[in-house]
Amino acid sequence: MTARNSQPRVLIAQISDLHVKPTGVLAYQRVDTAAALARCVKELNRFTPRPDLVVISGDLVDRPSKEAYDHLIRLLTPLELPVAAIPGNHDDRDLMRATLPQSYAFARGALHSVREVGGVDVLLIDSVTPGEDYGTLNADSLAWLETVLSTPTTRPALLFLHHPPFAAGIAHMDVQNLRNAGDLAAILRRHRRARLVAAGHVHRAALTNFAGIAATICPAPNHAVALDLDARLPPSFTIEPPAFHLHVWTAGEDFGAVVTHQVPIGDFDGPYRFFDARGALR
Ligand SMILES: [Fe+2]
Repeated sequence: MTARNSQPRVLIAQISDLHVKPTGVLAYQRVDTAAALARCVKELNRFTPRPDLVVISGDLVDRPSKEAYDHLIRLLTPLELPVAAIPGNHDDRDLMRATLPQSYAFARGALHSVREVGGVDVLLIDSVTPGEDYGTLNADSLAWLETVLSTPTTRPALLFLHHPPFAAGIAHMDVQNLRNAGDLAAILRRHRRARLVAAGHVHRAALTNFAGIAATICPAPNHAVALDLDARLPPSFTIEPPAFHLHVWTAGEDFGAVVTHQVPIGDFDGPYRFFDARGALR
């Protein structure tokens, strides 16, 4: 936890949809997702101030195999920050449970967990529907979420799940959304301490309001789903500037405030100072 102007602050970096393949294999025969993740790790390591936690919001690998998860772990090894992860539709719960041991809420099945980070509860919600690309939260998952959010506390809760609970307007992705988003919305409306719903899956940044709070989709470090708002276009991907999200929570009234920044990955010109040593605008 970092502090500025004496207000407690928590920085959560979110990376998403890594789609790591076994060593040497490209995704879609074109995208070097391993190199993209390596660049992302480098960016996270050099970011200041240091994020308090890195959340990986699903699709850690492209096709689940021990080889792919082992490759993922090798790529994440240089990361100097704590990590928490949830699965996406490209992941396998059992392989993930074995590869990324965390304190999961359930002994088997869905990989839900909670991380206390500074003054914030980070809720990692598994929205996977086994065997399907779309997301769901079954009765057990909804009950777990309701219980966690019911904890009497002044701590805000930031929620992470793979499947967006809202339509982004890209038809072939929207059919894979969280199917029972209404159940999630009903829970969020009952618990004011839920302040953010952060998803992945769409490989591009989006922002809306869901159940009265901010809801985001995190961009990917690799390929982006093309911004095709015309449903007649064939599902496509593009190579756009890679990025991750940085959610900055600052303490304050009503569970504080969250601001989400999009951080581009790469080496860019600058920074250049606006003012010279005398304080004059250059
Ligand atoms: Fe996905």
